[in-house]
Amino acid sequence: LSSIRVDVSGVETGTQLTVKWLGKPVFIRHRTGAEIQEAKEQDAEGVDALPDPLARNFNIAADAPATDANRVMPSPEGEAPGAWIVQMGVCTHLGCVPLGDAGDFGGWFCPCHGSHYDLAGRIRKGPAPENLPVPPAEWVDNSTIKLG
Ligand code: FES
Repeated sequence: LSSIRVDVSGVETGTQLTVKWLGKPVFIRHRTGAEIQEAKEQDAEGVDALPDPLARNFNIAADAPATDANRVMPSPEGEAPGAWIVQMGVCTHLGCVPLGDAGDFGGWFCPCHGSHYDLAGRIRKGPAPENLPVPPAEWVDNSTIKLG
């Protein structure tokens, strides 16, 4: 895989950066405490009943469940667990680019045919069959993420 390094030091909490990797958009979101909490509330209700119960995270086991913890990056020192989530900005229905801060679940909304993703990028409503995939990603240092 060809890899790129992304400086995320300027990404304020509550915002996201979109970068291109292998010709596709990747969303890097710096979540607020409230966003983390809302995403975790679904875990308490259980993830088995979600449209896609799998984490779809390249970095962990293929059969890992779609808990919030299984979708996020490990946090750099000094940041709350779950502060960073990295995922492909490609709708799993037919490949449109979802909009951020949108949809019924506060995460992403795909305007092409109306798929709603939650704050962990899990599909919750609409025709998309799977959660937004989490690509190979790791921290190089406290403010740089390597994709690929
Ligand atoms: Fe996103 Fe169809 S491509 S809902």
